[in-house]
Formats: sequence, structure tokens, C-alpha cells
Amino acid sequence: MTPGPVEVDPRVLRVMATPVLGQFDPEFTDMMNRVMEMLREMFCTRNQWAYPIDGTSRSGLEAVLCSLIEPGDKVLVPIYGRFGHLLTEIAQRSGAEVHTMEVPWGEVFDEEEIIREMDRVRPKIVAIVHGETSTGCMQPLTRIGQACREREMLLVVDAVATLGGTPVDTDGWMLDAVIGGTQKCLSVPAGMAPITYNERAERIIQARKSVERGLAGNLSEPSERRIRSNYFDLGMLQDYWSPKRLNHHTEATSMLYALHEGLRIILYEGLAERFERHRVNERALVAGLQAMGLSLFGNPDCKLSVVTCVNIPEGINGDAVRELLLQQFGIEIASSFGPLHGKIWRIGTMGFSCRKKNVLHVLAGLEAVLIRVGAKVHRGEALQAALDVYEIPS
Ligand SMILES: Cc1ncc(COP(=O)(O)O)c(C=O)c1O
Repeated sequence: MTPGPVEVDPRVLRVMATPVLGQFDPEFTDMMNRVMEMLREMFCTRNQWAYPIDGTSRSGLEAVLCSLIEPGDKVLVPIYGRFGHLLTEIAQRSGAEVHTMEVPWGEVFDEEEIIREMDRVRPKIVAIVHGETSTGCMQPLTRIGQACREREMLLVVDAVATLGGTPVDTDGWMLDAVIGGTQKCLSVPAGMAPITYNERAERIIQARKSVERGLAGNLSEPSERRIRSNYFDLGMLQDYWSPKRLNHHTEATSMLYALHEGLRIILYEGLAERFERHRVNERALVAGLQAMGLSLFGNPDCKLSVVTCVNIPEGINGDAVRELLLQQFGIEIASSFGPLHGKIWRIGTMGFSCRKKNVLHVLAGLEAVLIRVGAKVHRGEALQAALDVYEIPS
């Protein structure tokens, strides 16, 4: 019950044990095409480009940022938790002149505030996290995209924590590039990062093509503007994911089977139904925690439905509680980073882990452990409050 990696659906684990196909085998390339189609549905987009990067989620962030940022480009990063700092670092390493703005952890930005900063800084790219796993907050993104279009800027969004658990409306919100993660709400093991980007982003990528092939297939001099990374060069990767099937790296076969199966399961459940399941389990968890007498961290108006942050009660050793919960109940919850370490616990309700049984178990286990370490809790009330949310008759 951490904010990732979470439990993997057994059906996904099973396909990972099936025989490895060659990467140009038509059966495999058909699967690649189906993954692209399903990713378009997941990202709510008509973009041509929706495919996974091989590597954990930050490989997707790095591929997008290093393919779009040219040295000296201005990038604006609004930071409201740890992963905003990660975007900053990747943008800096890609040679950007990075401008940041911050709000205290537990809050998000008013979109107008970001737009005002865009007008001041005039960046080429705005890069922002949609769901901050470190603070359990979700940044509204309904207005920044339109503002970016009007100013000829690009909006890049880290939807690693949110994709598959809560709506990510790429086209509706006018997001230019979006990066997801597998090990969270998609409930696939860590090892791939689904991305999508539109024609505005593609124009930059095409203009930076790292090598031009002459008629005889020989390589001409690379241009000054070429993307510095070979592995993360989206121009080359999209040629592999296009009907051209130009060889790049060897595709991670078994991970692609896993992603294909994970996406199939999600779309079979239905996105609306899946988001509702996440909301109901979140409500039950929150009701239980509050009935126990615990308080939640962060502004409730911007709470991320798939991660719930709990203030550790005064005088209680948060790590000792987590350890007991893991040892005695086999349940893992997370601590947090930086200024929040030792102050909050983070409980994930993501993907396959997001189910009634798990919510009831974590509430029961946490209450028992808290009583064990001498914390004052309202005994026996958490599960009743959660059962009320599930409308179990008394
Ligand atoms: C919001 C967010 N962005 C990026 C990452 C980095 O992902 P990974 O550890 O898979 O590279 C994480 C991981 O927890 C995350 O929660």
C-alpha cells in the first residue's frame, strides 16, 4: 500500500512468463501497434505518438525533456514537492536555463499564478507534475495548456502517479507531452514509461534529428542541434515505433507483454469505472483514518485520490510503526522525503492494490500497531467508518 511500486495483477505476471518473440516478428510488431492504440485511450489523446520508453518513469521524463530542450532554452518548473525538483534537475542537465517557483509542500499552485510567471519568464517549456506522490497533492491543469498555446510555449506534464488512477485529459487540457509510469496505477512492474506528445512537440524533435541518412545510407555530419542522448532520442525512437521500424535498441519484450496486458485489463474495466473505484476506496480509507483519530496532511482541496498522506501523531516513531505493520501484517506503507520525512506516512490506493480488502486490512493493521506503540486512537471506529462508505448494512 505504498505510492508505488504496487501489486501487479496476476494476469500481468503470467504473460511475462510467455516465450520471447523477435522484435520484428509480425506478432510482436502487431502488439506494439496495439499498445500504441491503448495508450492513446489511456492518455485521452488523438496524438500519433504514444509509446513506452524502456526504463523506469524517469526515463520517460528524461527522454521528453532532453529531446525538447536545446542548450540555453528557458524552462519554467513550478515545484510543489520532490518530483518538481526531479524535473528541475533533468532540465538543468539537458542544458536549460531553469526558472522555478515554489509553494509549501501540501499545497498546489493557482493556475493564474503560473500563467503570470510564464509571462514574466517567457520560457520555451513549462514542466510540471500532475500528481505529487511525495505530498499527496494534485495540480489542476485545465488552464495552463491553453495559455501555453497562446504564448507558443510547450507544456510537459509528469503524470507518473496519476495515469490510470484519475483522469489525465491530454487533448482536453492541451498538454503537449505527458509521461506516465507503469508501477503505480497501471499495476505493471517498474521498467517502462509510457509517453505521448503532439505535433507541436514533434516539430522540435524533427528539427533536431540527430543524424541525416544520405541516399547511400551513409551518415552525414550530425547537426549542432542534435539531441545529446542516443538512447532517449525521441526522433530515433519514433522511427522504431512507426511503420518504418528502423532499428534502435532491442525492445524489452517481456515488459511490453506486461504493459499490453496491463492496459488491456484497465480498458476492459473501463476508465470511468476505474477512476470511480479509486475514489470509493480513497473515501473509505480517509473515513477510517479520520475515525481512528488521525489527521491528514495537505490541503484537502487538492488531495490526490490515489495517495493519502497521514500526519504521524506526536511522540510516535513513524518508521517503527511502518516496520511493525510490515513484519506483523505484511503491509507496507511509505514514509516521505525531505522536509516531510518522519512527519507523514503515505498510503497508496493505486491500480490492483486499490481494493476493499486492502483498505480494510491497512486500517485494521495500522490501528493495532498504533495501540501497540501507545498511541491514542479511537478503538474500533476505523473499520466501521470504512464499512459505512462501502455501504455494508449493519
Ligand atoms: C510523480 C513521480 N514522478 C517521477 C517518478 C520517478 O519514477 P521512477 O522511480 O519510476 O523513475 C516518480 C516515482 O515515484 C513519481 O512518483
